[in-house]
Amino acid sequence: MTSSMNTEALIESISELKRSRRAIILGHNYQPPIIQDISDFVGDSLGLSQKAAESDAEVIVFCGVDFMAETAAILAEDRLVLIPEERASCPMAHMATGAEVRALKAKHPGSVVVTYVNSTAEVKAESDICCTSANAVSVLKSIPTEHPIIFAPDMHLGEYAGKMAGREVVLWEGFCPAHHYVKAEEIRKAKEEHPNALVMAHPECPMEVIELADAALSTSGMLDFPNRSSASEFIVVTEVGMLYPLRKRHPGKKFYCPSAALLCPNMKMTTLESVKRALESDIYAVRVSPDIARRARIPIERMLAVPRD
Ligand code: 13P
Ligand code: SF4
Repeated sequence: MTSSMNTEALIESISELKRSRRAIILGHNYQPPIIQDISDFVGDSLGLSQKAAESDAEVIVFCGVDFMAETAAILAEDRLVLIPEERASCPMAHMATGAEVRALKAKHPGSVVVTYVNSTAEVKAESDICCTSANAVSVLKSIPTEHPIIFAPDMHLGEYAGKMAGREVVLWEGFCPAHHYVKAEEIRKAKEEHPNALVMAHPECPMEVIELADAALSTSGMLDFPNRSSASEFIVVTEVGMLYPLRKRHPGKKFYCPSAALLCPNMKMTTLESVKRALESDIYAVRVSPDIARRARIPIERMLAVPRD
């Protein structure tokens, strides 16, 4: 806590600062509940990138992790993008470097490099097209069959999307620590405990977990799924923060988290105090070098042109 101000006073001063700075707050679906409540838009990586690209706000406060804020800074190059917590980083995004991707590309001449948006700007700059969990299958299907495909950095999303698109994929061996350690056994147990529940899994989960699910979905895909289903209970195989927007959107339905592994500490760092500090003092400004930004923008814009799966 950086101040003794109560929650209401903090929220009030954030709203005033937002007005005076012509700012918008974007928040990911895994953010703490209070941060989701003060965000102007809450969504998945694809939705947040689209909002950053189309917003005319002068300042974008990005409540999420580093690669998301970096993507916003690349798309909104003439605006100030702030991330309230400098240490809010995605470990998977740092499992590949630009030089390593370049070296792999050299081993597979003629290949198309598809990069999950959970990656550094430097890796995006080496890529042909980006994707998110919401459009990975469509992105792979959009690639002419004569080109081999390299997928980085998430091996699980790459494997899942390759299977769904019917494409062979050279996989980078990166993973999300929150999803990678979920066990198939935990899902079987949750199904036994909640026999009427449907299972929604994020495609960052290992394939043996996805195979036990009724649907593999991005976080915003999960928010819509209960509208399309007559089921009233759901086992949610993604970061535990997702339970908050699900329960808020579907108050009559029940949602269960099946594994203690499903926690991303980086997504929990943002506080009202740090959002206020960001708006007051431009802490922390997200900057991407102009050359990297120019090259990374191309695969990101290609990604934005591909519809959701
Ligand atoms: P979504 O794009 O589905 O919101 O996922 C982002 C993420 O970091 C999942 O771990
Ligand atoms: Fe990265 Fe996983 Fe956290 Fe998402 S949940 S931000 S992929 S570490």
